[in-house]
Amino acid sequence: MYAFDIAAGSKPELYRDLLAACDAITANEPDAIANMANVAALLWEYLPDLNWAGFYRNVTDELVLGPFQGKAACIRIPFGKGVCGAAAATRETQLVADVYAFPGHITCDAASRSELVVPIVAGDRVVAVIDLDSPSPARFDEQDAAGIAAIARLLTDRVNG
Ligand code: SME
Repeated sequence: MYAFDIAAGSKPELYRDLLAACDAITANEPDAIANMANVAALLWEYLPDLNWAGFYRNVTDELVLGPFQGKAACIRIPFGKGVCGAAAATRETQLVADVYAFPGHITCDAASRSELVVPIVAGDRVVAVIDLDSPSPARFDEQDAAGIAAIARLLTDRVNG
């Protein structure tokens, strides 16, 4: 088991330390699934007010469930469907304050009220998406989006395979 010193004083501090922890735990490991599993565990442990945290992988242009923490979830999501599919199709972060106002949102856990999905992009290919769900409306803001985007950039070559 690993222990990390994660400051919870402010979001920038939290994400700085979380990025460092994600870096440390994935730096010397070439296995993509192992790296996604450990990062999902870190996100789940250190980000407050989540009911789901994990990855969907791009498998032949369809999103397939990857390592995660939370309730068992939808396994396959076509590009363009739901929040995750929108992030994969557009290669842009989806910051959704109210999932019920998002056309086509896929309800995996009825407790989810807001969602942040950040694509991991290598060149022009989406490798995977990071999906965070919260039971609180408007749980995520631009600081969360920026913090998760930094983790997504770090992971590009470490979850690709
Ligand atoms: N709500 C997501 C589906 C994935 S789950 O939340 C884990 C979506 O609309 O893409």
